[in-house]
Amino acid sequence: MTQDELKALVGRAALEQVVAGHLVGVGTGSTVNHFIDALATIKDRFPGAVSSSLASTERLRRHGIPVFEANEVESLPVYIDGADEIDHRGYAIKGGGAALTREKIVADLAERFICIADESKLVDVLGRYPLPVEVITMALPQVARRFKALGGTAIVRQGVVTDNGHPLLDVRGLVIDDPAAMEAEINQWPGVVTVGIFGRHRASACLLGTAAGVRTLVF
Ligand code: 5RP
Repeated sequence: MTQDELKALVGRAALEQVVAGHLVGVGTGSTVNHFIDALATIKDRFPGAVSSSLASTERLRRHGIPVFEANEVESLPVYIDGADEIDHRGYAIKGGGAALTREKIVADLAERFICIADESKLVDVLGRYPLPVEVITMALPQVARRFKALGGTAIVRQGVVTDNGHPLLDVRGLVIDDPAAMEAEINQWPGVVTVGIFGRHRASACLLGTAAGVRTLVF
């Protein structure tokens, strides 16, 4: 199976996680796009979605799925999203699609974050994928220097501005063996809007697309 077929497999499998009669939190990316397309087939069973990006909002609306603002909602039973890397404890790197801030906001509303990913995303230690960090423009050089002190090399993602109007850094060379601690540290740095480590908001479970079918990891 191709990587895209594995993404489609878990996108469809995630339908079972949608709680009938409740809003569903929807992430961003190519795996989630498969989920959204599958979601359209059961759209009469739930009132709508809370979206984590303009791109997902547009796709949901194209399918006729109502989209609610995060600030209209107090809680969600479940948030379904992909990841750039996920480890065996459910910690993840996210933000490859530049949607990390809204993704973390919607994940924060949810009782459970169910990650959907093809098997290439499962790693022992986070950090081979460059860590995305959304930053206020005037803080870019100082935040980059702070990453250098941690052993990382930060570069500005060219031609990309987030849905919130900010630039992104991609940081290579970090070994993230304590994701929650590193997330907490980076969150303290002035100018950091969101770091793409999902430590405090790690996944509750991951539906992993493998050649043998969907493997469910529960954390
Ligand atoms: C977007 C994300 C995505 O979940 C992540 O990049 C995975 O994307 P894909 O499903 O296309 O592999 O964090 O900001």
